[in-house]
Amino acid sequence: MTNLSTHSAARDHALALDRVDPLAHCRARFTLPDGVIYLDGNSLGALPKGVNERLHRAINEEWGVGLIRSWNDADWYPAPQRVGAKIAALIGANASEVIACDSTTVNLFKVLCAALEANPERDTIICEEGNFPTDAYITERTAKLYGKRVVLANQNTIESVIAEVGSRLCAVALTHVHYKTGRMYNMQRITELTQLQGARIIWDLAHTGGVIAVQLHDWRVDYAVGCGYKYLNGGPGAPAYVYVREDLIVSLDQPLAGWHGHAAPFSFEQGYRAHAGIDRMLVGTASQLSLISLEAALAAYDGVAMTDVRAKSESLTGLFIELFDAQLGTFGFDLVTPREAAQRGSQVSFSHPDGYAIMQAVIARGVIGDFRAPNILRYGFAPLYLTHVDIANAIAIIADVMGTGEWKRSEFSQKKAVT
Ligand SMILES: Cc1ncc(COP(=O)(O)O)c(C=O)c1O
Repeated sequence: MTNLSTHSAARDHALALDRVDPLAHCRARFTLPDGVIYLDGNSLGALPKGVNERLHRAINEEWGVGLIRSWNDADWYPAPQRVGAKIAALIGANASEVIACDSTTVNLFKVLCAALEANPERDTIICEEGNFPTDAYITERTAKLYGKRVVLANQNTIESVIAEVGSRLCAVALTHVHYKTGRMYNMQRITELTQLQGARIIWDLAHTGGVIAVQLHDWRVDYAVGCGYKYLNGGPGAPAYVYVREDLIVSLDQPLAGWHGHAAPFSFEQGYRAHAGIDRMLVGTASQLSLISLEAALAAYDGVAMTDVRAKSESLTGLFIELFDAQLGTFGFDLVTPREAAQRGSQVSFSHPDGYAIMQAVIARGVIGDFRAPNILRYGFAPLYLTHVDIANAIAIIADVMGTGEWKRSEFSQKKAVT
């Protein structure tokens, strides 16, 4: 095994990996600031090159000149379906099963309700203990609305909890890759176990879409939701997406009945008739500029195989962990992400009691990650625009910030609103 304890050895090793990277050409599809190693694409993706120009055209020509005509003339109106189809290709779904709209939280509400409506005689939803808070909040409130109970499970207990709840189980709602630890569920297995109990599965793909090769349709996943602003690079607050398996759409009942989900929105009927297709997941008018931004951003995936994206993600996270062991071992960090590639998403997290100040000090040196309370330093790896050399350089900077004690400077412990 190569000794990677020095920066020059790590850099040579990383250069060799970059030379055989089939996605190396994709980095040129992004605008990345000089002096920054961006390891936070799991929170807010970087800016793909075509987005700026596309938004200028949308604002100056389509909105400024075309005005309301652009809903037809610039094809604004079918954008949620068009963007949904592009996302579908990245998550192993059919084009007709995905639509871009609303936020992940709102979409989660819709599919939770759909699952509860589909199985009214059952009274239990399994939700993940320590899930991203929005998932926990919306699940709890939805259960309360319907008079159901929520049972918590975690990645260690999920299989036994599904079996224990048994015939009372209505739905299992999990996040595929845990936002803090980066640990990943076996989606196929948990989907099967849930359905064996006659229940529906809901996957939150916030840290999956655009970075992990999943096959929602073939694995017979019932419902899924995901973010447009993370690995899909749609920009701050970009619309989310929702997936419903084809055969479940026609009978799907969700309570947010709005005019864009109607069978004929421009007939202005007083009574609600749900659209026959995935459009029934729509509610009101799309955030059109954000949707246009997301659509343009998705061009960064043109011609890219998700299997290559996943392979590179494993390679980047694997290298980070190897160098973490070789160069950061003496600083009191604890790795919280699984070492086994098949069990982790595209992030590596580790803990330290002074994690907040350390993260701020490292960010000040241009290596951007984020901090998740109470003590987690989190780095996300977007395979389209990162190189292995970025990883070697990032580790060297973290080692330097720790070795010199730079992170102890008082300015780095001032808490900011967004961490
Ligand atoms: C697992 C998970 N779900 C949902 C969200 C956010 O959802 P929303 O699109 O409603 O902001 C995040 C954001 O980081 C997340 O990590």
